[in-house]
Amino acid sequence: MFSKAIAAILALPFVAQFVSAQTCTRTYTAQAGDICDSISAANSVSTYQLAVVNVGIIDDTCDNLVVGQSYCLGWQGQDCTTTYVVQQYDYCDLISAAAGINNTILYENNPQINEDCTNIYIGEVLCTAGAVQVPPAPAGTTPATSIPATATPANPDDDLPWCD
Ligand SMILES: *[C@@H]1O[C@H](CO)[C@@H](O)[C@H](O)[C@H]1NC(C)=O
Repeated sequence: MFSKAIAAILALPFVAQFVSAQTCTRTYTAQAGDICDSISAANSVSTYQLAVVNVGIIDDTCDNLVVGQSYCLGWQGQDCTTTYVVQQYDYCDLISAAAGINNTILYENNPQINEDCTNIYIGEVLCTAGAVQVPPAPAGTTPATSIPATATPANPDDDLPWCD
């Protein structure tokens, strides 16, 4: 824990330079017990966007949050605040229809979703805006989009409940 905190502090000047072109529009100070998706759900920031704006700050399993540290939630002009928390049995067509958008936009705002929409999980926060609003992943980086180890797929085995 201590070494992780030190590493995060040492990494800060580097990261600050890296993202200096971006203006942060909103922030959140981590509390004990937070996980990335709980922060996302409570603040209407998508799982993907939180990862992108914190590339190099929050690791891909989101196990290095530092209590008391302020995290950026969105960048000016690239901040999706229209979000939806994935529920059991959700699938992309349903989420898009409920939001009044098409799947093209849903995928562009949530590029971590796989082609068949089989990797969404309960508690994942998706941007459901009607236009592309999230930032692209910075070149050469992989934003944290690992599915949490404790996550439950929205549709286990991609088996629609009413087709059993
Ligand atoms: C999806 O919606 C967007 C925004 O309304 C629109 O620009 C785009 O043409 C639509 N794409 C398809 C394939 O319908």
